[in-house]
Formats: sequence, structure tokens, C-alpha cells
Amino acid sequence: MRIDKILANSGYGTRSQVKEFLRSGRVTLNGEVVSDPGFSVFDKDISSICLDGSPIAASQHLYFCLNKPDGYLTAMSDDRLPCVGDLLPDHLKTKKLAPVGRLDYHTTGVLLITNDGDLSHKLTSPKWHKEKVYLVSYEGEALTEKEVESFSKGITLLEKGHEPERLKPAKLILLSPGQCRLVLTEGKTHQVKRMLASQGRSVVALHRESIGSLRLHEGQKPGEMYALSSEEIDSLKD
Ligand code: URA
Repeated sequence: MRIDKILANSGYGTRSQVKEFLRSGRVTLNGEVVSDPGFSVFDKDISSICLDGSPIAASQHLYFCLNKPDGYLTAMSDDRLPCVGDLLPDHLKTKKLAPVGRLDYHTTGVLLITNDGDLSHKLTSPKWHKEKVYLVSYEGEALTEKEVESFSKGITLLEKGHEPERLKPAKLILLSPGQCRLVLTEGKTHQVKRMLASQGRSVVALHRESIGSLRLHEGQKPGEMYALSSEEIDSLKD
């Protein structure tokens, strides 16, 4: 990994602050000054990086954005079905990575995978308000401004055998008959499908476009993932 990324990911400053540290000769690796921010460091050497003569507390955390394909469980392993853990390259299989939250078996799109338990916990807590944007294809009558309005006020799910469940306001954007965008700030189980079902529609395809500012990279195919930049990590932690 690039040395500037290691330092920034470990909380020593923004990427540009870290570049300054490097250029001013404050960073050493095995006693040698490293001034090139793009200098590549092997995992085994990370503990030998010093800032101002003191070893850094390098974060061992890793963060990836996977474009989850259709037909994969959001799990690291499963005896019967394909799961997102199967998509990790071998060298990452021992890094204790786990998906943050859950997308259904057929849902595609942005899935954060990390071994940062604190961040994962934060992002799945009900206190967390980052927007999650879903592109929804559905069957049934076209949704109308009436549903836009009721979603914006927050609907209550009344499901057989369950206590009524009040949902936070959600933004519904009508795209075409049979397609809409839904912006949620919470993540209840099967929430999009249940919200549409409550209005008599059924979801036939679901794709998560973003979590906060995290989105797929241009051309990122299903099953492909990229490592988050320190800016992307900072923005998620924000
Ligand atoms: N809501 C759903 O119903 N399914 C998902 O996979 C994600 C959100």
C-alpha cells in the first residue's frame, strides 16, 4: 500500500497533510527517510514506519466497495449458496473482513466490506443517518405523488403478525412506470420491499446505488470491488 495512504488511513492527517509530512522528511521506514508519498510499503514493513522518530500505530483496517452481483448471499461463507466472501481474492480471506449490513440475495450494487468493527457498528446503528439510495423496479400500478407524499412523512408498516412499525421519512423519486428511486436513512430488514408491498407493489429488481457519498466506480462490474481511498473512508466516518 502507498505510504501516504497508510498514514492517512491510520489517522495521521488528511492525504494532503500526510504528503506534507513526507515531503518535509518526518517519515522513516527502517530508519531511512521516505519522502515520496507514492512509495509502496509491504504489509510486513508497516510496523517499521516512524513519524518524527516514533513508530506509527498503523490501522490494520481495510475497506472495500463491492458491486454485489445478483444471486449472492451477503455472508462470508455458506455451505450451499454463493456468497460475497467467495468474491474476495485469496490474500484477503484471512483479514477478518465482513459486509456492513445486508443486501438480499437478488439485490445488486454498493456493499461495503471492512474489518473495522467500530465503523461497521456505527453504520448499522439506528442513530446513523447516512442516505442509502436504491434504484427499484417494481410490478403493479405506477407509483404516484400520493405515495411520494406519504413516504416523505414517514409511513407505518402494518404487517400481519407484526407490531406496527413506524418508518422515518423517505424520499421517493418517480422515474418511469415501474421504476423509482428510494432514498432511505435507515436500514430495516427488507425495508424497500416492505415499503413497496405496503403500497400494493412488488419489487422485481433492486440495486443500491450509494451509501452516503460511496458509490460504484465507473465501469465497476458486478463482482468487482475497489479499496476505498482515505477520503472515502473519512467521508464514511464523518
Ligand atoms: N431493502 C430490501 O428490501 N432489500 C435489500 O436488499 C435492501 C433494502
